[in-house]
Amino acid sequence: MPKPQKHVFVCSQQRPPGHPRGSCAHKGGAEVLQTFWAELQKRNCFDRVAVTYSGCLGPCDQGINVVVYPEAVMYSNVSKEDVAEIFDSHLLGTTPVQRLLAPEVVW
Ligand code: FES
Repeated sequence: MPKPQKHVFVCSQQRPPGHPRGSCAHKGGAEVLQTFWAELQKRNCFDRVAVTYSGCLGPCDQGINVVVYPEAVMYSNVSKEDVAEIFDSHLLGTTPVQRLLAPEVVW
């Protein structure tokens, strides 16, 4: 297995309905994760990018949250419509998607 250059973690944390912190799963985290995997497959870039689900990344109220290493870039309020842009600009390019960056207070 080749060592990926970038590793994406998509919050898939679930919590019971009515939980005060909410959860990324409740906001559609699984759909965003599936879209990342679909884009990975479409671009056949398994040698450069890895996508993994994760538990809570911290700022639940800003979810759906996604973090990319090694740069430690956190994206907030990510929707499935944003995933292709994250691939083009950041994962296969070098430029994080500015409009989706988590607020400074978060990270
Ligand atoms: S539930 Fe996703 S960041 Fe906490």
